[in-house]
Amino acid sequence: MDQPCFFRGRRLRKTPTIRDIFRETHVRPEDLMMPYFVVDTDDAALRKPIGAMPGQFQLSLDELDRQVGQAVALGLRSCILFGLPKAKDARGSGAYDPDGIVQRAIRRLKANHPDLLVATDVCLCEYTDHGHCGLLRQDDTSGEVSNDPTLDLLARTAVSHARAGADMVAPSDMMDGRVAEIRQALDEAGFAQVPVMSYAVKYASAFYGPFREAAESAPKFGDRRTYQMDPANAREGLREAQADIDEGADIIMVKPGMPYLDMITRLREAFDLPVAAYQVSGEYSMIKAAAANGWIDEAAVMLESLTAFKRAGAELILTYFTEDFLRLRAQGQGGKA
Ligand code: PBG
Repeated sequence: MDQPCFFRGRRLRKTPTIRDIFRETHVRPEDLMMPYFVVDTDDAALRKPIGAMPGQFQLSLDELDRQVGQAVALGLRSCILFGLPKAKDARGSGAYDPDGIVQRAIRRLKANHPDLLVATDVCLCEYTDHGHCGLLRQDDTSGEVSNDPTLDLLARTAVSHARAGADMVAPSDMMDGRVAEIRQALDEAGFAQVPVMSYAVKYASAFYGPFREAAESAPKFGDRRTYQMDPANAREGLREAQADIDEGADIIMVKPGMPYLDMITRLREAFDLPVAAYQVSGEYSMIKAAAANGWIDEAAVMLESLTAFKRAGAELILTYFTEDFLRLRAQGQGGKA
């Protein structure tokens, strides 16, 4: 009798070995960038748990250095810094203070961990008293950020990070034209070799909720919808990415991650530049919360989610799971998603 003629996909799934051999996507330590929150504080031992992000902390400079040292020993290759200044003002001056908290953190980390790639988030929202990502017109309460006057401050912030030794700057403000302004300022200041990773396709997302607790950066009024993108829009994301590429971006990022995997794939297919994805705070916290309730297997879901980013086309994943991944790997379980 004739054998049935159909596709037997199970042949290549039969054993762990054959599955390992034909796995298409792998997550490696160098694919992951760990975000850290560093606080300008007199308490050198500050290590304050972030309630909405289990396992994440606001760290003093010393604690950051210590934690990064442990992570580097586990294989950490890159991180991105967010700063919490001592004081905030209308112009976000802590962001571009040559002796600001992020600038000091860069100097410390680069001195002690020279091979670690240190990137920085370039934005004003953690430094403005109103919590918006740029300048407001005087007495404005609509939250309509003034685009062009903000650009110079973002460029100054990026240059100050480069001066402190940052290996990469990542503007997350979503002002129009900021990549061009930052690129030009970096070049003029002698930092032509510092790449710009633009948060190119960044949505006005409710998934950022826990981060705003972590970075103490929630807007005091209004919201970010006049500068961050409408979650309903995909073609607009391609225009944003094209604009940032034309302005000189080296890496284009999609943010948030899992709800926008389609955008990662679209960017990967439309452009030749490296694509990054940010698995944001809300995505992280949902997994942590479900795992804490015993509803999902945390390690398995983490690995599956990271694998999904790679499969979708991301070269780099910014994720709060980076250290967890490295620890798991050290125990011999990483990369078997
Ligand atoms: C700053 C910034 C935000 C995030 C990264 N950079 C917050 C925001 O835009 O409101 C969110 C990251 C996260 O949720 O993990 N603009």
